[in-house]
Amino acid sequence: MTDQAILVTGAAGFIGFHVARQLLGEGRPVVGLDNLNSYYDPALKQARLDLLRNDSRFSFVQADLADRDTIAALFARHGFAKVVHLAAQAGVRYSIDNPHAYADSNLQGFLNVLEGCRNNFCRHLVYASSSSVYGANTKLPFAVQDRTDHPVSFYAATKKANELMAQSYSHLYRLPVTGLRFFTIYGPWGRPDMAMFLFANAIMANRPIRLFNHGRMRRDFTYIDDVTRVVSKLIDRVPADEPAAANAPSRVYNVGNHHPEELMHVVALLERELGRTANKELLPMQPGDVLETFADVEDLMRDTGFAPSTPIEHGVRNFVTWYRDYFKV
Ligand SMILES: NC(=O)c1ccc[n+]([C@@H]2O[C@H](COP(=O)([O-])OP(=O)(O)OC[C@H]3O[C@@H](n4cnc5c(N)ncnc54)[C@H](O)[C@@H]3O)[C@@H](O)[C@H]2O)c1
Repeated sequence: MTDQAILVTGAAGFIGFHVARQLLGEGRPVVGLDNLNSYYDPALKQARLDLLRNDSRFSFVQADLADRDTIAALFARHGFAKVVHLAAQAGVRYSIDNPHAYADSNLQGFLNVLEGCRNNFCRHLVYASSSSVYGANTKLPFAVQDRTDHPVSFYAATKKANELMAQSYSHLYRLPVTGLRFFTIYGPWGRPDMAMFLFANAIMANRPIRLFNHGRMRRDFTYIDDVTRVVSKLIDRVPADEPAAANAPSRVYNVGNHHPEELMHVVALLERELGRTANKELLPMQPGDVLETFADVEDLMRDTGFAPSTPIEHGVRNFVTWYRDYFKV
């Protein structure tokens, strides 16, 4: 049986929530899956789910991707033709002390998704990779063809592993797969462990904000609405199978704004929008961090006619408007 519904894993998470909302808005039914873990406040995940549940075409399954039997049964029951796999243990710094959380969700969980797709005739798996696969590369911008075999965190190693696992399934079982290397996604309903959210919390509580490498860092901040647009376009752009050319139906794209921002500039924008001055604590570089990220999005542009471009000023304003409303501050 093939289900019309699209499976979105990590649907209670930041990006999964927005992607599910986008697809529902396009009239497409969505089955959302999440284990609602407490890596960050589950109340935020519940609040996102509450919004999704307003749409009758949304249904939710609470399950752990690492639970092989449950995931196999879910895929067998639905036979999803399209899968957007966004659930993962995210975060670079947390992986230093908690590597097993990454092995369970990002390796075992990813394999269970691949097996579900392979055994149930999935026609396209779109999955999240990360800009962290570029490690400490110094050639800018980061291009998909660049080397990505020297990760500087275990999180990045699991994301690179996902690309290789997907490639092998695509080759062996002709499973069409599209990997998305996300570059620092931000916006309303964002992730509380990420810099912009942490800075906003600290500024509002009059606590110092911690700026590593003394604030001398640049990030290719990418606005969430651009990301959902990319995902929506790519779901229907199934990579072609070209056995004659020995090519597996597999693609990887950078999803970034291709416009790195100085961290200090982002702090200044937050100060302006929040109407408060940040107390800045300048700290040395941390293990696992990189100095700059910058996406080459030529492939994305060529294949979809679109690339993220929301200016940071606009995105920060929308984030702060949501933040004030959500926390009533
Ligand atoms: N936000 C970014 O800037 C960014 C950058 C690069 C890559 N990514 C990747 O994009 C994807 C989505 O990230 P996000 O920012 O929305 O993170 P998020 O933590 O907000 O969302 C991930 C969701 O997956 C769920 N989850 C985790 N492990 C699970 C498991 N074993 N079983 C079921 N559910 C599980 C979590 O409960 C969470 O709701 C992740 O794969 C992440 O690695 C995000």
